Amino acid sequence: MQIIKTVKELRSVVKSAKKEGKTVGFVPTMGFLHDGHMSLVDYAKKDNDFVVVSIFVNPTQFGENEDLDAYPRDVEGDTRKLENRDVDVLFFPSVEEMYPHGYSTYVNVEGEMTGVLCGSSRPGHFKGVATIVTKLFNMVSPDNAYFGQKDAQQVSVIERMVRDLNMDLNIIPCPIFREEDGLAMSSRNTYLSEQERKDALVLSQSLFEAKNRIEQGERISKKIIDGIVDKIKTIDYAIIDYVEIVDALTLNKIETLEGEILIALAVKVGKPRLIDNMRLEV
Ligand code: PAF
Repeated sequence: MQIIKTVKELRSVVKSAKKEGKTVGFVPTMGFLHDGHMSLVDYAKKDNDFVVVSIFVNPTQFGENEDLDAYPRDVEGDTRKLENRDVDVLFFPSVEEMYPHGYSTYVNVEGEMTGVLCGSSRPGHFKGVATIVTKLFNMVSPDNAYFGQKDAQQVSVIERMVRDLNMDLNIIPCPIFREEDGLAMSSRNTYLSEQERKDALVLSQSLFEAKNRIEQGERISKKIIDGIVDKIKTIDYAIIDYVEIVDALTLNKIETLEGEILIALAVKVGKPRLIDNMRLEV
């Protein structure tokens, strides 16, 4: 595996691979890789001849009071994991390489899609994500790029951006990867104490209960949301940021459940703010 830190070198290596007729798969990450990330790498390896993984903790997607400095990092461990998976390139640029002095260009997906769910409690977050993902796409020029469905809103925003800006690649959303007991994998799970880790299970449990109720015929969005909120409130210190049911494609709120729906939630369980979701065809 080549570890590359500059855009110039990355471009030249990808160019050579493409010259040989290889297809390029790309998995953008912020590092501290867990099995969820590795499942994205596995999808990319399966579909492509040449796989690039990036590790970059992107400052522009963190708000002022968020955990940029404390965000967990383990480049040595990550490198080992990627080498074991036979990844071709690890792109690991510095902040200066990505945002040189005088940097002033941003990509913003406007409207509803970035104003709801995580967008309303993390203003500017998706502008940072859209900007860095555009830059990475321009650097790697992948045929296929892989994103976890745990960040469902991020996937929708990126799909919209790719469509609106006529970017020439496929976005491949990949299923949420859960721990055996159901907790969605996240780098932020490492912030959980032992007790919080147990209590955090209410998030996935409430979603699976909601799924059952919908399968049994419930179609009123508010009733499902109330059920989820009641379940989460059994953990008295959990702070709900949002529990919403939206149309999976437009992210508009819906009152009656039909079509492709997304049940999404964000909850602070102790220090970390965790997100989870479930996409269903009703
Ligand atoms: O999902 C993430 O880890 C990040 O938002 C991404 C897509 C790597 C952009 O920084």
